[in-house]
Amino acid sequence: MVFRWLVLLLVVAFIGIQFVPVQRTNPPVTAAFAGTPEVKAILERSCYDCHSNETRWPWYSRVAPVSWMVSKHVREGREHLNFSQWGTGAEAGEKAREIWEEVEKGRMPLRSYLLAHPSARLSQADRDVLRNWAGNAVAAEKGQTAVSPKREESTERERHHEERGE
Ligand code: HEC
Repeated sequence: MVFRWLVLLLVVAFIGIQFVPVQRTNPPVTAAFAGTPEVKAILERSCYDCHSNETRWPWYSRVAPVSWMVSKHVREGREHLNFSQWGTGAEAGEKAREIWEEVEKGRMPLRSYLLAHPSARLSQADRDVLRNWAGNAVAAEKGQTAVSPKREESTERERHHEERGE
């Protein structure tokens, strides 16, 4: 008896929370990301759902309480970095540096997102492309010629040099 009431209560609560308004907006793209098609394709696939105004809202983004989490990720993601407003705010080189930092440390894309979007996982080749792109963007901002390591070994070597202050 108690169990039945509990189930009923849960069902009513589940239906009730569906009426809490959730923001699912896609505002206009004002300053689209400028980068090579290769870089753009990777970012579109793995980052744009949370870091652009071109979010693909999945069906479960319409079902509370998951919708609350998705909406929060998108809102906070856009606040930190929005590829639809590239060219406004911080300099491109600075943003590229931050992007590579997050990717290198494996903090982005968010783990919960990867569970639902396995194809957003970054391959080693994707990471190489992003690292080279970020390196070039940072160098361009400093007005230097880019150093773009082609292979892992060369990065290893560079890191070694950096450590010794060379
Ligand atoms: C599921 C949503 C989601 C996806 C997908 C996602 N991010 Fe994020 N990102 C966030 C949220 C939320 C934050 C802000 C909170 C935080 O730092 O954890 C954030 C923060 C960031 C920041 C700012 C970090 C800081 O310390 O200010 C960068 C840079 C970033 N993300 C890059 C990326 C890149 C690059 C990708 C794709 C490879 C990506 N993100 C994919 C949700 C996402």
